[in-house]
Amino acid sequence: PEAQVQPRPLAGRHVIVTSGPTHEPIDPVRYIANRSSGAQGTAIAAALRDLGARVSFVTGPAQVPAPEGVDVIRVETARQMRDAVESALPADAAVMAAAVADWRVTNAAERKMKKDGSGRPPALEMAENPDILAWVSKLNKRRPKLVVGFAAETNDVTAHATDKRLRKGCDWIVANDVSPATGIMGGAENAVTLITAEGPEEWPRMGKPAVARILASRIAKELT
Ligand code: CTP
Ligand code: CA
Repeated sequence: PEAQVQPRPLAGRHVIVTSGPTHEPIDPVRYIANRSSGAQGTAIAAALRDLGARVSFVTGPAQVPAPEGVDVIRVETARQMRDAVESALPADAAVMAAAVADWRVTNAAERKMKKDGSGRPPALEMAENPDILAWVSKLNKRRPKLVVGFAAETNDVTAHATDKRLRKGCDWIVANDVSPATGIMGGAENAVTLITAEGPEEWPRMGKPAVARILASRIAKELT
C-alpha cells in the first residue's frame, strides 16, 4: 500500500489550548471545582498537534492524561491559568476549553479549617475570577487571529452562546448542551453548536475526539 502523507496545514503555527477544571482553594485540603474531565480540551490539543501545530496546553487538574507531543503547563487556579496563557503568547489561535471556576475564595485559610463546636459552618467570602477568554479576545497587539471559546449551557443553548460570543469578543463559540438529560457533562460524547459570525451551526452528536478533529480542521482552514 502507498504511504499516507499526513497533511500538516498547521505546521509553523502556535495554538494555546486551555483545558480541564480549575481548583480554587478553601484551605490546604479543600477546594471548589467543577465536573470538567478535561477530555474535550485534551482531544482538541491532540488534534491540533496532529495537524502540525505547536500546542501550548494549559491545563487544570484534569482526570485524563495530557496528550503527548504538546507543551504541557499545569496550573491549579484561574489566576494561574490566566498567567500561564499570558506567558504562552503570542499565538496564532487560542482555544479556551477549560471550565474555569467563576469564583475564588478570598478568605481561604492557610491551615486546615476545624469545626469549632458551634454547629455553624465557616462563611466563605468569594470574588469573581478573571475571565481569561474575554481578556484574550480584547487584547490589541497580542490578540491571536482566532479566539475560540466554549459555552456549557443547560437551556436555550444557541441564544446563550450567541450572547456569550458577543459579550466576550471571541470569534467562535463551541456551545455544549450539558443539560442532565443529555448525559454530556463528564461523558464521552458532545452535542455541539458552533457559533460564528455567520450564525449557529448544529453538529450531530459525536465522540469528543471527532468534535476535536472537525474543530481542528476548521481552525486550520481559518488560519491558512
Ligand atoms: N472562561 C474563561 N475564564 C473565566 C470563565 C470562563 O476563560 N473566568 C471561558 C471558558 O473557558 C469558556 C468560556 O469562557 O471558553 C465560557 O465559559 P462559561 O462558564 O460558559 O461562561 P461564563 O462567562 O463564565 O458564564 P456563566 O455565567 O454561564 O458560567
Ligand atoms: Ca462560568
